[in-house]
Amino acid sequence: MSPTAPKIKLSNGQEIPSIGLGTWRSRKSEAESAVRDAIDLGYRHIDTAFVYENEDEVGRAINAKIAEGIIKREDIFVVTKLAGIHHDPHLVEHACRKSLSNLALEYIDLYLMHFPVGQIYAGDENVHGSSKLSDVDYLDTWKAMEKLADLGLARGIGLSNFNAQQTERVLQNCRIRPVVNQVECHPGFNQKKLIEFSRQHEIVITAYAPLARPKPEHQWPPFLYDAKARNLAQKYRKTAVQICLRYLLQLGTIPIPKSVTKSRIAENFNIFDFELSCDDMKVMDDYHTGQRLIPFTAMSQHKYFPFNTEF
Ligand SMILES: NC(=O)c1ccc[n+]([C@@H]2O[C@H](COP(=O)([O-])OP(=O)(O)OC[C@H]3O[C@@H](n4cnc5c(N)ncnc54)[C@H](OP(=O)(O)O)[C@@H]3O)[C@@H](O)[C@H]2O)c1
Repeated sequence: MSPTAPKIKLSNGQEIPSIGLGTWRSRKSEAESAVRDAIDLGYRHIDTAFVYENEDEVGRAINAKIAEGIIKREDIFVVTKLAGIHHDPHLVEHACRKSLSNLALEYIDLYLMHFPVGQIYAGDENVHGSSKLSDVDYLDTWKAMEKLADLGLARGIGLSNFNAQQTERVLQNCRIRPVVNQVECHPGFNQKKLIEFSRQHEIVITAYAPLARPKPEHQWPPFLYDAKARNLAQKYRKTAVQICLRYLLQLGTIPIPKSVTKSRIAENFNIFDFELSCDDMKVMDDYHTGQRLIPFTAMSQHKYFPFNTEF
């Protein structure tokens, strides 16, 4: 059997594998085989969301691997997310049960509030909501999520795309603490301040878009293609992608690279047999531009928009 990744302890005692497979934009036809391949290759942490519209396929792959005897349910850490359309407290349990039914699982390991801003509900089929944003306070949504943990439907609950101030507000008013905040994080936007803030509050950062969605045709982002990146890769006998993911790991985050390509799924996992030196961490630090790749500008006028502050 393939070796699995080291785990990180969360503040509620759960253990989360230190790399996960992302599945956003994994089309229905691709998601199931990607998750099957990932599990065969040693991944034990899968990231999906209601809005990705592939929970069915992700769940089918996980259940197939359980049926084959490759994993047991308790071996795999499944993350999914509460959609903006389900922020109204009376919709939260319904949404969680819907995700559980899609996944064909009895519990979710970690259920995240996908974004602090909600959208007006117009039926579950309308996953992206009407174009209207809602004014539901994310604290009320959080309190409804706490009940999911009480019911055992979600073992852990957490945040995504929350800034430090919003996280602090949740911490000051919660009964159950968020264990994770999933945010954009790659060498170009390394989130050092949010990582440090979160560490002080025992919240682990999951790094989404860890490769900044590479565009090889434009040799972009530079930390995967420029001469410095190539030199580092050569020095460690690794690929630039592996250097990038190792950097995120050493920053203390959990990268969740998405791929539907078996060789890349394997490449992205192969980051546990080397360590970047302090000097080389600094080389990677220099790629930070402070520029977000995914600014969610459509929501930028909303009172709960998280990205108007530095971190
Ligand atoms: N919470 C949120 O709001 C939020 C937002 C964005 C993303 N996420 C999560 O984070 C995950 C990762 O982010 P992302 O998908 O946006 O971006 P990403 O992981 O940085 O990039 C994915 C892209 O990189 C390619 N790729 C993967 N491994 C590669 C490799 N070794 N060499 C070359 N190319 C490679 C993939 O291609 P192929 O698939 O064709 O191999 C895909 O096009 C998502 O899938 C999702 O689960 C969460």
